[in-house]
Amino acid sequence: MIVRFKPVLEIGAGTMQAQIKTTENTETDTLSGRSLSERVAGARKRYEELKALALSLDMSRGKPAPEQLDLSDGLLNCISSGVTDNGLDCRNYGGLEGIPSARALFAEFLDVPQEAVLIGGNSSLWLMHNTIAHALSHGFVESPSPWSRMETVKSLCPVPGYDRHFKICEHYGIEMVPVAMDDDGPDMDEVERLLAEDETIRSMWIVPRYGNPTGVTLSDSVVERLARMEVKAADFKIIYDDAYAVHHLDDSPPKLKSIFQSCIDAGNPERAVLFGSTSKVTYAGAGISMMAGGPKFLDWMKAHMQIQHIGPDKVNMLRHVEFFKDMVGVTDHMKKHAALIRPKFEAVYQAFESELSDTGFASWTEPKGGYFISLDTLEGCAKRVVALAKEAGVTLTGAGATFPHGKDPLDRNIRIAPTFPSLEDVQQAMQVVALCVTIACGEKLLSEESQ
Ligand SMILES: Cc1ncc(COP(=O)(O)O)c(C=O)c1O
Repeated sequence: MIVRFKPVLEIGAGTMQAQIKTTENTETDTLSGRSLSERVAGARKRYEELKALALSLDMSRGKPAPEQLDLSDGLLNCISSGVTDNGLDCRNYGGLEGIPSARALFAEFLDVPQEAVLIGGNSSLWLMHNTIAHALSHGFVESPSPWSRMETVKSLCPVPGYDRHFKICEHYGIEMVPVAMDDDGPDMDEVERLLAEDETIRSMWIVPRYGNPTGVTLSDSVVERLARMEVKAADFKIIYDDAYAVHHLDDSPPKLKSIFQSCIDAGNPERAVLFGSTSKVTYAGAGISMMAGGPKFLDWMKAHMQIQHIGPDKVNMLRHVEFFKDMVGVTDHMKKHAALIRPKFEAVYQAFESELSDTGFASWTEPKGGYFISLDTLEGCAKRVVALAKEAGVTLTGAGATFPHGKDPLDRNIRIAPTFPSLEDVQQAMQVVALCVTIACGEKLLSEESQ
């Protein structure tokens, strides 16, 4: 992940300049006064021309494109029987933990031992939701009482983060405590400080690899600190959502240290609960999900799952195992995804670079994997950018969505989701978005200049 441009505003006597600083060197450019107003006027003109085309482009949700889904159509006919070679009848009830061959494959996928993994239905979000819901109704094994009987329950939420994690907290009245994301993970000094003193913080969300939307992968040091930090709440859990475990865009992907083993080594084997799925590997609507955790957690989860159903869809598990065979099959398959979506990510960088690189109006990430690019505008401009884009027929994820309660305190972060639209649509949409950034940020600076 590379942060390309860091906007730095300097307010001088009567003038305001937007400076650009790259992370690689201290070279700066400025855009102010006449050059600023000319740039904004030019952007306005091009924006109106694009608006007249009556575009209808949706860049709002991180979905696989149809041609990515096509890559997995082998799933539709890769099995001729619902009974495994070992005689396990996947068509019948039972098998709460998932079939052994799927547990073996997806244990490797999540980098955990086979006995630590459970295979679920098509949605890991559903498993995460249920984990929280069961904690509320019954408490974890270590909880002094069900969470719902506690006066205050809080969750640490690295920001910007995934809106649906926040929605689960909102839905159940769990108070969200935001923590800033650094380039290698959440601000661990702050995480450790909060957890050491506040017993009401009972969980923490984290997307460890190619985070949504930051693209950040946790460094070894962050993983180790998460595993060994002191926490006040006896039942504290890290909801470790490894949604992008195999979604590399680069040929030299970063290696993520095992949280599972790190927690065991630190004497906290029940701390992390891991989640993953094949939603963006095979079919988003018909993949399989997985979760992993310590032995107490797994028994607790199975006891709850037993009440919910008599067994998961094992035929789909069998299809996935037959389709991939092993992790080499998964890795090869993901290279085909990368070949399809990498040009779309590059189209976003190209649009931003050609329109914004000399303005200091924005910074953005270039992740090595995952599904998102995180765009930061000047403060107070993100909502306006999204509104301008909407007016021109480009739907973006709502400004603020990457923060608890949909409120970005600095109104600067926008999540860009380039995978679903065609390459041509991404190119056109990002041209519009880059112009919207110029207009929103430029007009803000001009109005401040005139005050
Ligand atoms: C971080 C993260 N977790 C979970 C999900 C959803 O996963 P699933 O389809 O397995 O429910 C997404 C989808 O965008 C995601 O970005």
